[in-house]
Amino acid sequence: MIEFRPVTSPEDRRWLRWLDAECFPTDHPLRLEDALEWMLAWQGDEPVAFCGWRKHGLSWGFHVRAGVIAKAQGQGLQGEMLTLRERAMKAAGTHVAVTYTEAYSAASMNSLIRAGYRVFEGTPDTRLVINPAYWNTMVYWRKALP
Ligand SMILES: CC(C)(COP(=O)(O)OP(=O)(O)OC[C@H]1O[C@@H](n2cnc3c(N)ncnc32)[C@H](O)[C@@H]1OP(=O)(O)O)[C@@H](O)C(=O)NCCC(=O)NCCS
Repeated sequence: MIEFRPVTSPEDRRWLRWLDAECFPTDHPLRLEDALEWMLAWQGDEPVAFCGWRKHGLSWGFHVRAGVIAKAQGQGLQGEMLTLRERAMKAAGTHVAVTYTEAYSAASMNSLIRAGYRVFEGTPDTRLVINPAYWNTMVYWRKALP
């Protein structure tokens, strides 16, 4: 059974960085300040997945990085983490959930499609990626929160 808990302690933060390095070995390490809230998925006393979210403007909730370690993949954890964060976004007063994926992230895109997300064209105001070099290589996703 998987239990999701917010990252609160220094030990949680160490696990978060460890999971991030496992899931994104070639990407830049996550920055704690990139999310308002980070969460860990625990299988017993072992963390197996993580995700974060923050506000973007007044009414958008932005899913930042999420990852599932190899041995826990294939059971829909990414989809569960979308639902979890949508609830937190709604509670924080946002009305729309947004995110982006690489164009080759098939599993992520399928998780988003199953969760009801649609693709949109990024504009200067709504592009979520800071580095302009990546603006046109990302796929942007959004969903009105029910
Ligand atoms: C991407 C990632 C988060 C997916 O985690 P997960 O919860 O194990 O995902 P699942 O295996 O349950 O798959 C989610 C969906 O994608 C589909 N899928 C899985 N692998 C796929 C693949 N190689 N090609 C196409 N679809 C795939 C699944 O069938 C499922 O769709 P469904 O709900 O319609 O059946 C995980 O693989 C990961 O952390 N990878 C490394 C880091 C990363 O790429 N993060 C995302 C950055 S955008």
